[in-house]
Amino acid sequence: MTLETGISPRRVPLLTAEGRWYGRVNFAANPVVNGNQEGRGRASGRDLTMLEIKGLSKTYGNKVRALDGVDLSIPKGMFGLLGPNGAGKSTLMRTIATLQAPDAGTLTFGDIDVLKDPQALRATLGYLPQDFGVYPRMSAKAMLDHLAVLKGLSNGKERKAVVTSLLEQTNLAQHANKAVASFSGGMRQRFGIAQALLGDPQLIIVDEPTAGLDPEERNRFHNLLSEIGENVVVILSTHIVEDVSDLCPNMAILNGGKIVAKGSPGELIKGLEGKVWARTIVKSELAGLRSRYNIISERLTVGQVRIHVVSDENPGEGFEPIQADLEDVYFSTIRQGKTAPAVAA
Ligand SMILES: Nc1ncnc2c1ncn2[C@@H]1O[C@H](COP(=O)(O)OP(=O)(O)OP(=O)(O)O)[C@@H](O)[C@H]1O
Ligand SMILES: [Mg+2]
Repeated sequence: MTLETGISPRRVPLLTAEGRWYGRVNFAANPVVNGNQEGRGRASGRDLTMLEIKGLSKTYGNKVRALDGVDLSIPKGMFGLLGPNGAGKSTLMRTIATLQAPDAGTLTFGDIDVLKDPQALRATLGYLPQDFGVYPRMSAKAMLDHLAVLKGLSNGKERKAVVTSLLEQTNLAQHANKAVASFSGGMRQRFGIAQALLGDPQLIIVDEPTAGLDPEERNRFHNLLSEIGENVVVILSTHIVEDVSDLCPNMAILNGGKIVAKGSPGELIKGLEGKVWARTIVKSELAGLRSRYNIISERLTVGQVRIHVVSDENPGEGFEPIQADLEDVYFSTIRQGKTAPAVAA
């Protein structure tokens, strides 16, 4: 699959490798995204309610199998893709965003065959890459306006209204004339969402958007994501359990390129009910207990360690039963599976 569009990169010198593509593609003769033009999801009466991923695999040139037979059905609303570093999240996000081709598998979004017709998917895609680069000295307003042009919003009056409304929605209106380069991490991520929302996309992908944000900004970002609406598919990739427990009615856990759990957070927690036990110990006891129990988490408190174990039976020895939460699900799941990406034979 080629992703080149023949558009001069000079026109869009703005983003990272991923982001540059974003600009180029949308600048390309893409009949899209301007509310009432042809080719857009809702405008063309398309049913874009479900993203179906089947048997998706990707092995890089260095033999790392980053995706290994991924099957997922992702409905409207917020979907959380949770996984540790190197799990394959960005590979999956980039593949869905048509930035790279898989070795095997199929991808459909409603009636769009994504691998056969990537342009149709791009027409309805909003994407915030993990490393979102920006124009160094451009104001937020000017840059969003520029990106809106690239997205195909050619009517100046309409574009101005869209830019104003997106800056308001992302709580950046008071910073509209400040350079994006001067923004804090949280403001940049909100700006990243503003650009991803240009053109009213039906599929929004945000890759690790909360990493590095302080709790207040993360909370603000959560509120923003939850406002994006239930009528579009939003995929949030993250390694932060609270991102998913706070926001996502549906989720999956990716580890070593494989989906190791999927469902609603509630269902997944139910699967661990009555099986999680906790005990507070002194550090010196840890090594011995590690060899005897399936410890899923160890949390340091002042001089002591709070450990959680998974066991069908009461382990005794001072352990107490506790209510399982999503963090227990996550840690127990990723400890059962592979912790490093598989290397192809
Ligand atoms: N372009 C590439 N070439 C070779 N290997 C790659 C490439 N991109 C990713 N990988 C490897 O594939 C695996 C999955 O990487 P990926 O970036 O998809 O994981 P991730 O879940 O997004 O991780 P993180 O949380 O660190 O962003 C890793 O082992 C990574 O080193
Ligand atoms: Mg990543």
